[in-house]
Amino acid sequence: MNTYQRIGIPDNVINTFLVITVVLLLAPYVGGLDFGIFKVPSFPPEIEKSLRWIAPVLFVLFLILFIPIWKTHTVHLEANNVEQQNAVHSKSKYRLQSTPDIILNELHRQNVNTGGIKIVPGVNIHDLKKRIKILNQQLSDEKIDHLVGFARETAFTSKYAAPREDEKLVNIAELGVQGIQEWHTYLCLFLARLGITDIKNIEVLDVGIGNAYASQVFLDNCASLTGVDISPEALNYAKDKLPNAVLKIGSAEDLKEIDSFSKDLYISLRTYQSTLFDIKESLHEAYRVLANGGGIVVSIPNMFLKKNEEGKFIGVLHGLIPPGSTVPSVDFAMHISEKIAEYMNLLGFQGVEVYKVSPFEIFIGATK
Ligand SMILES: C[S@@+](CC[C@H](N)C(=O)[O-])C[C@H]1O[C@@H](n2cnc3c(N)ncnc32)[C@H](O)[C@@H]1O
Repeated sequence: MNTYQRIGIPDNVINTFLVITVVLLLAPYVGGLDFGIFKVPSFPPEIEKSLRWIAPVLFVLFLILFIPIWKTHTVHLEANNVEQQNAVHSKSKYRLQSTPDIILNELHRQNVNTGGIKIVPGVNIHDLKKRIKILNQQLSDEKIDHLVGFARETAFTSKYAAPREDEKLVNIAELGVQGIQEWHTYLCLFLARLGITDIKNIEVLDVGIGNAYASQVFLDNCASLTGVDISPEALNYAKDKLPNAVLKIGSAEDLKEIDSFSKDLYISLRTYQSTLFDIKESLHEAYRVLANGGGIVVSIPNMFLKKNEEGKFIGVLHGLIPPGSTVPSVDFAMHISEKIAEYMNLLGFQGVEVYKVSPFEIFIGATK
């Protein structure tokens, strides 16, 4: 950018200035001549004498100001630029190969015909199995259960089993969110609203426990803890963090290893938004395993770390990343949370509440 642009001088002012300096440049030599579009005035001899050096200096100065010496910081507020600014950075775990892609690739690898099937929000594990049955009549239901279950497990293991960066593990002082507290403080506040103040002496079930790295700080206080996850590899990591917990491979939709009415608290943190997750069926299972009067807390992620392309932390982004996007959306996080609350009500849970106080996640909870 040149100095005129930097100062913001309009083009018509620059043009006028150009004409004036050219006229002054010519005046000592051709004063009084009429060029049609402009006339060169004649000046008294002593002024003409001064103009012989002042005018060239002015003209050179005029030209120098055209040299583009200033750096351009133009911000294009076009849709894709705004998107880039709000996207999680390109090396984030949320931008690795998508879970639906890994699942479909794994099914192809097993020679399953998935012709045209799209795994999008709203498509759950049962929908996928039904579609695969239609396209692969030769496969038994048991075989399809196994293949789809294995593909889903493979995807979650590759994306989430090994510990990676996590919003909940960053020092809160560095997040730059005013008044923010440790993530588990909000969980304890919400549990208190559900009447649960002593987690030490109750039976707790964590569904989608993952590697337990982020949740250890809370789960360490649970004397009697059972954790369930579809990824055996994630559970191997969890075993190191929580040596006293009972860990079981299984899915939220079918908690077959958990007895009915056996748990006082069912928690499932940042799991109900997962690809192919069947919310309604999982809540049926939650209702079954909870003792009467027991509590349920489900959470949906609502905050991501914002980093620049060099991976340096530069702030936080609020919302949940919709499939196929890289930009977290608060509306999307709320949409899923409200759906969970709706199903909780439908299935007969009491005092269903959507708790939006935590910057980290939205909690949805109730009692049985
Ligand atoms: C984003 S991680 C969250 C882990 C942990 N709860 C936390 O908040 O740090 C989601 C976990 O849910 C598990 N998961 C996804 N779908 C599941 C399902 N239908 N049943 C059980 N676990 C599931 C994944 O394997 C993964 O470990």
